[in-house]
Amino acid sequence: MKKLAILASGSGSNAENLVNYFSNHPLARVELVISDRKNAFVHERMARLGVPSYYMNKEAFENGSVLTFLKEKEIDLVILAGFLKLVPKDLIRNFYNRIINIHPALLPAFGGKGMYGMHVHEAVVAAGETKTGITIHYVNENFDEGEIIAQYETALLETDTPQDVAAKIHELEMKWFPVVVEQLLRNEMPV
Ligand code: GAR
Repeated sequence: MKKLAILASGSGSNAENLVNYFSNHPLARVELVISDRKNAFVHERMARLGVPSYYMNKEAFENGSVLTFLKEKEIDLVILAGFLKLVPKDLIRNFYNRIINIHPALLPAFGGKGMYGMHVHEAVVAAGETKTGITIHYVNENFDEGEIIAQYETALLETDTPQDVAAKIHELEMKWFPVVVEQLLRNEMPV
């Protein structure tokens, strides 16, 4: 049984979806959630689902406490789901190819620092894109630059607002993110 840890900064709809998908799953389960925000809604979702969620501050990420904790808990795969902090180098080194992220656009477009959540959808609409999508990728030292694992697209209408784009992205994320995680685990990809 593989142990998954999720890092999240916000609402946690992806975290909740992953917990549900991997509850009673033969391959893996979500062991815990860590947030860099004390008041993130993800804590409420996890309390409801009975999954331990921890607030860990900037210092804990920087001084190695988060890394130690993940090792103690024997985590196999770290999943970033709406996590806004840059992952510290020691964590990346120790979990090489075992940290993945979901990004709400078709990378390398609309990625990089500051590109998260509604900022991404606003930029996509402002650029007049005819399609957008989601990218699931390995995490390296730079925002949104690790090797791409999978991408899924959705068509956009000229009339789509950033909120419409967000809804389309949400649908793709709910449908595909857990499936890609499962495939990674099944293929025994470096996880
Ligand atoms: C998701 O759309 C995720 O792709 C995005 O934040 C949202 C989190 O929603 N991530 C980024 O923008 C990372 N650059 P959630 O907290 O409800 O899962």
